[in-house]
Amino acid sequence: MTKTPIAVLISGRGSNMNALIEACARPDYPARIALVMSNNPDAPGLETARLAGLTTLAIDHRLFPRDREGHEKAIDAALAEAGIEVICLAGYMRVLTPYLVSRWKGRMLNIHPSLLPAYPGLDTHARALEAGDTEHGCTVHLVTDGVDEGPILRQARVPIHGDDTPQSLASRVLEQEHVLYPAALSEFLSHT
Ligand code: GAR
Repeated sequence: MTKTPIAVLISGRGSNMNALIEACARPDYPARIALVMSNNPDAPGLETARLAGLTTLAIDHRLFPRDREGHEKAIDAALAEAGIEVICLAGYMRVLTPYLVSRWKGRMLNIHPSLLPAYPGLDTHARALEAGDTEHGCTVHLVTDGVDEGPILRQARVPIHGDDTPQSLASRVLEQEHVLYPAALSEFLSHT
């Protein structure tokens, strides 16, 4: 089968990236990871990707002070060079400018740890607990200009238990993220 070349963008641990690496290793999975990129040269996920034999690239945002678009132009050039067709943001913790978002409109996915439109932004698990919610989860969506606002592709739900902490809830959601992202990407590619 022809596998779509994708880039995975990370900022840290990269466990969602790792779930995508494992999915892409399956012969019948419709994507291959052609590049793993990070804004953070020290992201632990970069080492995970290297150990998996993938091409990695760090483009440190601190080298582009007050120039988000300059940083994104460097990213975009690297994506073009690698022949990337779809981007998966996986714990990429930079807010993107309209420059990169418009260049990749309809071709950039993100995973977010809440049932969007609830709790865009940070600290989603603590916010769900504080609100007294009984249910939480994660969302894979297309990236648009608004932060965590684009069309939803797929969601997974988990119950909130009475004795949950933000950490226990985060790990229950993360387990679902690792199933959701490969499934949502595969489904997305089957429709494009
Ligand atoms: C994941 O929970 C992901 O959903 C979240 O960061 C974590 C990254 O973990 N992303 C966001 O909050 C983006 N708004 P990972 O590096 O182990 O995949």
